[in-house]
Amino acid sequence: MEIDVFTLFPAAFAWFEGQRHVSNAVAHGHRLGYVNYREHSPLGGGQVDDTPFGGGAGMVLRVDVVEAALRARYDRDPVALRAERRIVALVPSGRLLDDALVDELIQEPALTLLSGRYEGFDERVLEHFVSDRVSIGRYVLAGGELPAMVLCDAVLRKLPGALGHEASALEESFSATLERAPEYPHYTRPAEYRGWSVPDVLLSGHHAQIKQWRLAQSRARAAED
Ligand SMILES: C[S@@+](CC[C@H](N)C(=O)[O-])C[C@H]1O[C@@H](n2cnc3c(N)ncnc32)[C@H](O)[C@@H]1O
Repeated sequence: MEIDVFTLFPAAFAWFEGQRHVSNAVAHGHRLGYVNYREHSPLGGGQVDDTPFGGGAGMVLRVDVVEAALRARYDRDPVALRAERRIVALVPSGRLLDDALVDELIQEPALTLLSGRYEGFDERVLEHFVSDRVSIGRYVLAGGELPAMVLCDAVLRKLPGALGHEASALEESFSATLERAPEYPHYTRPAEYRGWSVPDVLLSGHHAQIKQWRLAQSRARAAED
């Protein structure tokens, strides 16, 4: 998969790129690239934002700046581009990111992520250039960099080659394998600690019973939610 992140702060991704599953994914041929809106601004002095019409606090990311950055990367009219690839804007009010959406996104050969800053995007960016609006939760962060990293992390770790054990990403909280329920509890040594013991079934060696117990635990956790 090829992921392009549009951002004013590409340097923010240095730590993320150093994470093992991310570097593994890149080593397996997946690609993470960055486009800095500021470097493609058609305005003087690298201006990217402007005051909101109608007044109010904060600055708004300009539509002409976002278009220039998209054109610089893809050499296409962004209005046509969104029919060809998923152009995802990170916005607090978007579709909530969940495992089902991640499963949908990993089918794509390429993703474009638009990170906002300040008061966010001029609405015409969202109306005309974007195919998806995605939120990582109903709260507001200062910028779209962390949300973009969250989305990339969730997507990349499901791609072949990212994790040491492919199965790790298959049977996890909210996965289809676990009927979209939370994951069952895990335990490791010591089997007894301060009088807290591990459930007998996990020490039994009966794989069918363990599987059954785990699924029952997941279902019980889903029922609690
Ligand atoms: C300060 S926020 C803008 C918030 C906007 N004025 C509002 O009230 O919805 C700046 C940028 O951070 C990103 N952002 C902040 N919180 C987010 C969230 N929960 N999910 C996705 N993106 C978020 C978006 O890219 C947004 O354009």
